[in-house]
Amino acid sequence: MSLDPPADARLASHPTLQQFIIEGMKPTHLDEVVAIEALSFESPWARASFERELNLGHAHPLVCLSHRQVVGYICPWLISDEVQVLRLAVAPSHRRRGAAAALLRTVLDQAFDLGAHWLYLEVEEGNHPAESLYQGLGFTVEAVRPDYYGHGRHALVMVLDLTPEWNGDEV
Ligand SMILES: CC(C)(COP(=O)(O)OP(=O)(O)OC[C@H]1O[C@@H](n2cnc3c(N)ncnc32)[C@H](O)[C@@H]1OP(=O)(O)O)[C@@H](O)C(=O)NCCC(=O)NCCS
Repeated sequence: MSLDPPADARLASHPTLQQFIIEGMKPTHLDEVVAIEALSFESPWARASFERELNLGHAHPLVCLSHRQVVGYICPWLISDEVQVLRLAVAPSHRRRGAAAALLRTVLDQAFDLGAHWLYLEVEEGNHPAESLYQGLGFTVEAVRPDYYGHGRHALVMVLDLTPEWNGDEV
């Protein structure tokens, strides 16, 4: 099973998202990806972590482009019949325009088409933008990992069941 992006860059499918192009992450994207990462997380991944993603067989990182500029990225792993999202971020200057939803929908569409059974991720409790995004796509909280991000900072394990009933129209 492969989660490779389409051979050609493709427009995000949502009618309001036509300004975005989703394609596979390449070494030439890394300067922009690392800059967005630094603006998005308290403990950002190092450049080497993204370089690793580019070289792992089960990692399928994607970028979201607007006018050829990287405005967001997602790092999913596909192992057996499950997809795990390790990283997702959008540049602060481009948030609330549907970029994260477009990235997630691309991963979900491909995972669904390829027969993956479920998708999961971890999000810090209280990260309301991310929680709202995932809930809007149908994710539910399956577990809480206490103190996962430090004392008093809990992780929610959120899961999406990729059954045939999922039709991808929630966002
Ligand atoms: C979370 C994040 C990826 C969302 O990216 P985004 O491109 O702004 O999200 P979208 O525009 O695709 O939002 C889709 C939906 O998610 C929800 N949402 C997104 N941001 C929100 C916010 N700040 N407040 C409330 N709901 C929000 C809304 O339902 C939104 O739909 P709407 O705009 O039609 O109301 C972005 O805020 C980010 O990079 N945050 C820092 C890194 C991070 O927390 N990553 C997730 C780690 S698990």
